[in-house]
Amino acid sequence: MIAPEEINVLLAFFAQNSILLERKKEPHIKILGHQESCRPAPLSILDDKLKEAAQTLFPVKTELRYQSGFGNYFESEALVGSLPKNQNSPQKHPMGLYPEQLSGSAFTVARAENRRTWFYKIRPSVVHGRFSAVSVPLWKTVGIEPVMSPEQLRWDPCPEPTKPVDFIHSFFTLVRNGSPESRSGVAVHIYSASQSMTDSYAYDADGELLIVPEKGTLLIKTECGDLSVEPCEIVCIPRGMKFQVQLRESWARGYVCENFGEPFRLPTLGLIGANGLADPRHFLIPHAAFEDQSGKFDLFARYQGNLFKTALDRSPLDVVAWHGNYTPYKYDLRLFQPVNTVRLDHPDPSIFTVMTSPSVTPGLANCDFVIFPPRWMVAQDTFRPPYFHRNIMSEWMGLIKGRYDAKEKGFVPGGSSLHNCMSPHGPDAETAEKAIQATSAPQFLDNTLAIMFESCYPYRVSEAAQKTPLLQKDYLDCWRDLKVMFQPRA
Ligand code: FE2
Repeated sequence: MIAPEEINVLLAFFAQNSILLERKKEPHIKILGHQESCRPAPLSILDDKLKEAAQTLFPVKTELRYQSGFGNYFESEALVGSLPKNQNSPQKHPMGLYPEQLSGSAFTVARAENRRTWFYKIRPSVVHGRFSAVSVPLWKTVGIEPVMSPEQLRWDPCPEPTKPVDFIHSFFTLVRNGSPESRSGVAVHIYSASQSMTDSYAYDADGELLIVPEKGTLLIKTECGDLSVEPCEIVCIPRGMKFQVQLRESWARGYVCENFGEPFRLPTLGLIGANGLADPRHFLIPHAAFEDQSGKFDLFARYQGNLFKTALDRSPLDVVAWHGNYTPYKYDLRLFQPVNTVRLDHPDPSIFTVMTSPSVTPGLANCDFVIFPPRWMVAQDTFRPPYFHRNIMSEWMGLIKGRYDAKEKGFVPGGSSLHNCMSPHGPDAETAEKAIQATSAPQFLDNTLAIMFESCYPYRVSEAAQKTPLLQKDYLDCWRDLKVMFQPRA
């Protein structure tokens, strides 16, 4: 049992840490405030007895909680009363916060395309030191790459780092197209990080960051709050939003699509109807959470293909409340509802589109984010693997888990492949041989999750990605043994 005076100690502790309590029936006490803000209470500073009592009496959640709905309009406050209810810019904020708007679209675009969020910050973003350039030679989104042929390419996974390196400094650009300046195209990077960003934060003015972990869970702190994302989930950080990436394990690896074009959105469903593919309600948005910290911090800014650094004397994640529709979000790819054939042949792989970034031409994607998830294969009298084809669109692919159904070997989790505009591709010889001989019994394709960033712009391969020993020299050999089976009949 815990004594009444000890309850008072706990109440004082929570009050000091801005955790608001609502006392209902003794001894049940519901925690508001910081619980809503997703930051667990720092119970570690309590002694063991009080810690145990706190965990018994106050069910402090250590897992993050989220709001839901893709593209919805949200509002959130970490402290009750910190979000102005009737206007955006009050003359005098009741808690002394500064209103600041983050615009993710031009002011004048159509309402359906308009994205902006109002922050209520301890101090405006404009307080910072001078910027200086930082060298990150493997994060390369501008400049000239060596001429490359239309040859199909495939890479092995990046290894575990041998030196400490954080998320943004571990970027290795494989391919890119368009440019930050033209506000079109994407770059695809691999990250392989071995340490959290400590005392440092970043934002990307060139594009939004769609992060696809393959190994290791990430805690991503943003101006809108915190998100935890594990392999088989994705997270998207909007262009310009400040963030910090912390590792939950000793090593994290995955893919990043840096999207210079229009922000990703859900695809239209057309004749599929109102349901199917990625459901808007499964996209999760954080609650407000803030850091009220002074100290020495670095802020990294990606701008026009270069990385810059400036000094801060306070944490930039100081947003106590916010409202708007320009937010980070996460999504669990395992919730995707695949739609596919129920008799014969394949729909085109666009049927597996999770999100799309449109170009200026209707129906033509700056980038489609496509997955190949576990699913039933039931097509009769059908060559079931992905068919052989040539495509005006350019296809970069990665693998999150298991095995991709077009390749028996060589394409492994953490690896990548590139089939550029009009370069032929399809299942390897071993897969094709098996598929031609297989019976058409229904089969559940399990233990697989491949991803694709498909773009209307041909990809350029970075010089480092053309020269890395991770590039497989024998990729073309996987098709070499495809037999000639032609038997002309009289
Ligand atoms: Fe393809």
